[in-house]
Amino acid sequence: MKGYFQDINEWEHMLEENPTIYEVYAIEQEEKEGDLNFATTVIHPGKVGNEYFMTKGHYHSKSDRAELYLCLKGKGMLLSQDINGNASWVEMEPMRMVYVPPHHAHRTINTGDSPLIFLAIYPADAGHDYGSIAEKGFSKIVVEENGKTVVKDNPKWLS
Ligand code: F6R
Ligand code: ZN
Repeated sequence: MKGYFQDINEWEHMLEENPTIYEVYAIEQEEKEGDLNFATTVIHPGKVGNEYFMTKGHYHSKSDRAELYLCLKGKGMLLSQDINGNASWVEMEPMRMVYVPPHHAHRTINTGDSPLIFLAIYPADAGHDYGSIAEKGFSKIVVEENGKTVVKDNPKWLS
């Protein structure tokens, strides 16, 4: 995940211990219209500098495909944004279902001190497009400031 977090020095420092940031256990069908995939993601607690551990984030290759997440354990946030970088975010807590609309990039962030675990349900032909997020990131970042979770403008975001 080189380049995903703001603090490059902290990132390199952390690589000495090489912690697992997140794991995905996916059951995926053949990529055909009408079927559903499901995947469980476990994001471990931790931060790089003041930025919480998070997923890479992606659009769907078929960008009009929506998705549902059901939070099972832990505490976190779903951050999503449209193609112009207009972002919105919603808190995740056990048994809360959160929705990713079509044409929205999405990333999840563990803002708690235990693993964040959620189930994702998405069309089998959605696919993952990591390219633009890997290059530009999201317009917002989620950090801890004075013990509080804060959503801030990404200083590196170029719209
Ligand atoms: C599938 C989906 C999730 C994520 C998973 C890991 O469409 O959104 O199953 O794939 O939470 O996140 P990424 O794929 O962004 O590394
Ligand atoms: Zn997705």
